[in-house]
Amino acid sequence: MTNNLIDRDSNYIAGIEKIRFSPVAPIGGEGCFIIEENGRRLLDFSGSWGAAGLGYSHPAISEAINKASKSMASASLLSYATEPAISLAEKLISIIPGNKSRKVWFGHSGSDANDMLVRLLEAVTGRKKFISFHGAYHGGVSGSIAVSHHSSQSHSPKKGGNVYLAYPNHYRYENKNNLDENILKKLDEIFYTTCNPKDVAAIFIEPIQSDGGVIVPPKGFMKSLEKKCREHGILIVVDEVKVGLGRSGLMHAFQHDNLEPDFITFGKALGGGLPLSAVVGPKDLMDFTTAFSIMTTSGNPVSASAGMAVLRAIEEENLITNAKLIGDNLQESFRQLANKHDLIGNVRGRGLAIGIELVNDRHKNKIAAKTETAKIVYRAYELGLVIFYVGMESNVLELTPPLILNEDESKLGLEILDQAISDVTNGLVPDSAIEDYKGW
Ligand SMILES: Cc1ncc(COP(=O)(O)O)c(C=O)c1O
Repeated sequence: MTNNLIDRDSNYIAGIEKIRFSPVAPIGGEGCFIIEENGRRLLDFSGSWGAAGLGYSHPAISEAINKASKSMASASLLSYATEPAISLAEKLISIIPGNKSRKVWFGHSGSDANDMLVRLLEAVTGRKKFISFHGAYHGGVSGSIAVSHHSSQSHSPKKGGNVYLAYPNHYRYENKNNLDENILKKLDEIFYTTCNPKDVAAIFIEPIQSDGGVIVPPKGFMKSLEKKCREHGILIVVDEVKVGLGRSGLMHAFQHDNLEPDFITFGKALGGGLPLSAVVGPKDLMDFTTAFSIMTTSGNPVSASAGMAVLRAIEEENLITNAKLIGDNLQESFRQLANKHDLIGNVRGRGLAIGIELVNDRHKNKIAAKTETAKIVYRAYELGLVIFYVGMESNVLELTPPLILNEDESKLGLEILDQAISDVTNGLVPDSAIEDYKGW
């Protein structure tokens, strides 16, 4: 299956940056569907990796973008005070629990938001080290790569001295007793031996580890970790880029663990498909110095207006409730499907952030079904569903569909995946089909 766009894409878009799973090449989109050149409509269970949080061509976003583009107060927030960015900052602050004094920094992408924080926190605390997790993905530019530890980034050297903890994965390590306590003890040991906690500026936490395999932390773990970090004056950063803004069934995914972060990063869905990210943090620390992390068009009126439309729609259309309802039902349906398909090892998630881990020998060795996963994703595309996979072993189907997903659409996606898994199990997808689609 190929088309004109795929050929041109291969010729001109830097191939090495692409994570290809199928020849998907949309020319349009509507709601939860994308449309290909030949008019075929595909249900999108990835939602452009979560960036299309409200789906495609959402009327409120289109209207906000149109309006802003017709009266571009300025292309830049750098030295101008513009209404859309200021209103969005006020709105973002208003949705953060608590009443601490906060300020907002705007960027273009989750990557720059986390990057900015790494540099800011080094500067304001005078501490040079960070804690994060194996499997973490906080972005693709140097600062955010430094606090990431994802298999896809083995090309970039890690920043010396950072501490990477195991993310408590109770499916993989169910036989390890006291997994959570052991991780916390390990941190104590590290503090006692190789890393003075007084050198650590902050911990970066994904409230659900997404690209590492959609891993949901066990109850209480993150809170204990937060407490331990606070004892040493280590600041808490929560990365809500992928699972924030209603996706998890609460406005913020960190609320499931009652975390009280100092800094929160947003991206992806915030821009409704346009480049927009934000860091929200304590006023005194955010006001560190002039021109610390500036980008000419960040917070521009078009992206900021889109962001405001997104936040309004999440509230006005009850999308948080929808994410919980549709997401919980979908998870349950996938658990039922595990009775039929031995490949399904584990179904987990919160709201519409769902992971389905595919394994061989699921009752014993849980061997990552990497090839089968790639084939299922490819076959799903052929059958009309876009879905991608994540995980350190490339064997976790990740569902981050638009929050507007309805019951019928979720059933359609379930049916297609059911069929795709059957087809792959029955050997209908040859190895040659996925040769060009190595994913990541
Ligand atoms: C948790 C998390 N943080 C940050 C990022 C980086 O966001 P972006 O690729 O939009 O810059 C991602 C991207 O997948 C992510 O999942």
